Amino acid sequence: ENPAYQAEFDAKIDAGGYIEAKDWMPESYRKTLVRQISQHAHSEIVGMLPEGNWITRAPTLKRKAILLAKVQDEGGHGLYLYAAAETLGVSRDELLDALHSGKAKYSSIFNYPTLTWADIGVVGWLVDGAAIMNQIPLCKCSYGPYARAMVRICKEESFHQRQGYDLLLTMMKGTQEQRDMVQDAVNRWWWPSIMMFGPHDKDSTHSAQSSRWGIKRISNDDLRQKFVDATVEQAKVLGVTMPDPELKWNEARGHYDFGVIDWDEFWNVVNGHGQGNVDRLAARVKAWDDGAWVREAALEYARKHDARDSR
Ligand code: 3HC
Repeated sequence: ENPAYQAEFDAKIDAGGYIEAKDWMPESYRKTLVRQISQHAHSEIVGMLPEGNWITRAPTLKRKAILLAKVQDEGGHGLYLYAAAETLGVSRDELLDALHSGKAKYSSIFNYPTLTWADIGVVGWLVDGAAIMNQIPLCKCSYGPYARAMVRICKEESFHQRQGYDLLLTMMKGTQEQRDMVQDAVNRWWWPSIMMFGPHDKDSTHSAQSSRWGIKRISNDDLRQKFVDATVEQAKVLGVTMPDPELKWNEARGHYDFGVIDWDEFWNVVNGHGQGNVDRLAARVKAWDDGAWVREAALEYARKHDARDSR
């Protein structure tokens, strides 16, 4: 830790400036960015699995094409974010090793199963809706490569959220059975979606420091509240109800009050014991193993290419 560099770093952060990969930064700042960006990237690629499950069973060609585009986008988001993490001096292999070994986290939400087609709409509406809330402030994150990756990602996220909501609007105009299918999916995804924003601020390990460093611009609870306030209004238009009897408008606060989150469920899933954790990780490890030959061929080709160029 070098006092002169530290002072320059602090001044840049306090001025709302960006820290670039080549700038001096405290080791602890670098470490928390590697943690957050790599876990964000893991979330994107694990997040491809619940929706990938329905690509072959989409009810129309249009919905299949939309879902294919969305899952492909998530893979691309993972790529940008792994690349942003690599600017901090870690290798892709190290990061993926941490995922496959269960050491690294990824967003709890992706450990829940997508049981019906309505889940695909609800995941787009709620999960991508929550992701947008959480990712817009990250476009102003103090670490330049992460902030820039987020600008592109946020543009695509709004398509993800709209297509999910559009899918649900279509189903809500359908049969009673289709309307019931949507309500059932909302009942199963509502609470896990508001858990995406992380622990309450008072229980958050990183929030104080991450806010000081301009990494976390809005707190977990404030973002969660923003998401609840916006989504409850959308639910009214859709014609579904949220599975929370305590959800009601509080005029004095100017926000919706909502019930108590089941933090045992949250930490159970975050710590790897959720319904889907084992399957999700097994699917990622299988994809990694099955793809080994592609990586070897690409690396061999690059080696031959470089050798030829350097003659
Ligand atoms: N799932 C899993 N772990 C979570 C979590 C969640 N929903 N929320 C918090 N945690 C973990 C944190 O990673 C941290 O554990 P760690 O020290 O081992 O990393 C611990 O719980 C304490 O939480 P904090 O709030 O103190 O941690 P952070 O300051 O990192 O805040 C966060 C958590 C808000 C998720 C923050 O890391 C963040 O903004 N990350 C980047 C965005 C992101 O990952 N979004 C979610 C998934 S991306 C997505 O949805 C893709 C979309 O295309 C569908």
